[in-house]
Amino acid sequence: MDPDTAARFGPPFAPAMGMVPAEGQVRLELKGRHSRINPLPRKPPHVIAIYPGSFDPITNGHLDLIQRGSRMFDKLIVSILRNDAKQPLFSVQERIEMLNEVLHVYPNVEVDSFDGLLVDHAAAHGATVLLRGIRAISDYEYELQMALMNRRLGPRIETVFMMAHEAYSFISSRLVKEVFGLGGNITGLVPPSVESRLKARLLNTRIKGA
Ligand code: PNS
Repeated sequence: MDPDTAARFGPPFAPAMGMVPAEGQVRLELKGRHSRINPLPRKPPHVIAIYPGSFDPITNGHLDLIQRGSRMFDKLIVSILRNDAKQPLFSVQERIEMLNEVLHVYPNVEVDSFDGLLVDHAAAHGATVLLRGIRAISDYEYELQMALMNRRLGPRIETVFMMAHEAYSFISSRLVKEVFGLGGNITGLVPPSVESRLKARLLNTRIKGA
C-alpha cells in the first residue's frame, strides 16, 4: 500500500507501512469493500466516563462540567491524580472530601483518586470515555497532546471535550488560590464549602506562621 492510501485509512494500516502498531491497535487485512471495517468496539450499554484532574481545589468551572457530564454519561467518576510533585495546597484526602461535599447530590457521580497511567485507571473501572474541559484555545494544544497520547496508550478509550459555561471560562484552581492568597474576593468562583476550607487553611497558615 502506498503511504498516501495508508494515511487516508489511518492507524490500522500503519503496520502495512512497516510502522510498529501501538498497543491494542489491530492490523486489518484488506478484503474488498470490507476493508473499511472499523476495528473499534461498539458502544457499551452503560457508558462510564472518567473526569480526571488535580482539583486543587474544585472550582465552579469544574462543577459546571461535572453537571453537564452527569447528564451525558451513565456514570461519571471524578478522579484526582495523586501527585505530590505538584505540591498541592490540599491533600488528596481533603480534595476527596471537598468533592464529596459538593457532588453527593448527583446519584451517578463518584469520586476516586489514581496514580500511574490514566488509561489504566479508566480500564480498571470499565470506563470508555475520558472527559476534559476546554476553556479557551490556549487549553487546546495541551489537551490535544494528552488526548492523542491517551489514544495511543488506550485506543478503545475516547477523550470527550466539553465547554463549561462561558461565565467560568477564566477560572482556574491556580488563579483562585493566587487571588485568595492575596486577599481577593473569590465568592462565586468556587462552591461555598470550598471557600470556607480556603479561609480555614489561610487562617491556619497565618496562625502557624505568627
Ligand atoms: O487538572 P490537571 O492537572 O490539568 O489534570 C492533568 C491530568 C491528571 C489529567 C494528567 O496529568 C494525567 O492524566 N496524568 C496521569 C498520568 C498519565 O496518564 N500520563 C500520560 C497521558 S498524558
